[in-house]
Amino acid sequence: MANPIVSTHPLVAHKLTILRDKNTEPKKFRELIREIATLLTYEATQDLQTQVKQVTTPLTTTQGQVIKENIGLVPILRAGLGMVQGVWGLVPSAEVWHIGLYRDEKTLKPVEYYNKLPVEPTVSVCLILDPMLATGGSAVATVDILKRWGVKNIKFIGILGAPEGIARLMEHHPEVPIHLAAVDEKLNEFGYILPGLGDAGDRQFGTG
Ligand code: PRP
Ligand code: URA
Repeated sequence: MANPIVSTHPLVAHKLTILRDKNTEPKKFRELIREIATLLTYEATQDLQTQVKQVTTPLTTTQGQVIKENIGLVPILRAGLGMVQGVWGLVPSAEVWHIGLYRDEKTLKPVEYYNKLPVEPTVSVCLILDPMLATGGSAVATVDILKRWGVKNIKFIGILGAPEGIARLMEHHPEVPIHLAAVDEKLNEFGYILPGLGDAGDRQFGTG
């Protein structure tokens, strides 16, 4: 598997450019996060398994296909929340399981503050949603949580990835596909992605 899988779709590139712009207001920013998440999900779900289902049209009966797997969307709070509606639009039957992590400002290590996963897994595929893959700490911790829960088929859908975060996620979880809109240059000394788009949570929620 080639990793990361970076979208080459012109619509993704166009929307990402507006997303990066420091003058883009939170309302537009949220809209773009949702739209880019939808486009990336279309690409990331190409290998979902289907099963045959008989369907009766107004004229006759034929065989169609329906998605076979139970899908879980796993937004990492807060910034991943903005991706949910876009992905859910494509996969309306998906369950949504929130994971709350924030990065400690000094250590940049993820701190877990919300996890209400039940004991037994209820889904067979998890799509982790988080726009930013910076040091990779949050993504690695979330995959760790989902593997402990018992899920084997896990995909990461982000928007921007730094080389450092991509390398870390691939080192810890090489079988997890990483879907991104772009790979940026590097992290700055505060762990922010350059050129990046700033703080994805603050820009969505107007808290910056
Ligand atoms: C951001 C982002 C990721 C994390 C990425 O969350 O949404 O979850 O940082 O950084 P990492 O790859 O170095 O772990 P943040 O901690 O700012 O929380 P927020 O979404 O609540 O703003
Ligand atoms: N989290 C963000 O929101 N932005 C970054 O650039 C890095 C981590």
